[in-house]
Amino acid sequence: MITTRRPTIGVFDSGFGGLTVLKALLEVVPEADYVYFGDTARLPYGSKSAETVARYALQASRHLEQNRAELLVIACNTATALALDRITQAANVPVVGVVEPGAEAAAAMSKNKRVVVIGTEATISSHAYRKAITERGLEVREKACPLLVPLVEEGWVDHPVTEQVARIYFNEAFSGGFEDADVLVLGCTHYPLLKPLLRRVAPDHASIVDSAESTAAAVARQIRQLLPPSNNEERRITPRLRFFATDSVEKFRRLGERFLGHTIDGVEHVDLKE
Ligand code: DGL
Repeated sequence: MITTRRPTIGVFDSGFGGLTVLKALLEVVPEADYVYFGDTARLPYGSKSAETVARYALQASRHLEQNRAELLVIACNTATALALDRITQAANVPVVGVVEPGAEAAAAMSKNKRVVVIGTEATISSHAYRKAITERGLEVREKACPLLVPLVEEGWVDHPVTEQVARIYFNEAFSGGFEDADVLVLGCTHYPLLKPLLRRVAPDHASIVDSAESTAAAVARQIRQLLPPSNNEERRITPRLRFFATDSVEKFRRLGERFLGHTIDGVEHVDLKE
């Protein structure tokens, strides 16, 4: 039997939301093991400054490297938008963020070259998506949707209030020359849970790009360049998962299951010293 070494991928997020990225990764890179870090004591990142988010993200990335991560996935859109360069400079392993894969997928999908991106306040005001998408020759309308994260965390993923909120945001986003934008980029870890609702509310002509899925596909390409191809045996082994949370492990388990789609065991508490 040929045996190959299983790589360990580190996934970082401000909290539970990045589990949507882990879920996508488990589907396309099952031959890896994973360490996940949720900075639950310090979320949300979406309303914080670049300086603060960068400081937190660097600590978390260090922790993941100390726990054997050989590749870091910055699942948090806000942390990617505000701090990817600094994380990449400080890391000793390759780093993949969510913005570039999302922009790439949007560029590939849009026919009329007009795209709407939604995300947290911090992600949108950083204009990281605008930069990545306009570099690819497309026009972009960015729209902060700060109410969507708390609604998802409340479990209101198919609730009339959430639908009404999304409708108001989309009326503003798909306007002023962007009525015919044909791609909507979900630029936040929480939005994949709202996909059925957002699909109903977004204009029919707009296709949805889920940056969690685009990022998982980018990681799959990168990991296969870094390591020898895995054999079928490796792909059949269930990935080992380790979780770190900076706040209550019980709460992480309970809320996290909604994002990951199955039970979560083995959550360890970590106290990061400033
Ligand atoms: N993980 C964040 C993001 O993708 C959303 C939650 C937060 O604001 O911390 O932007």
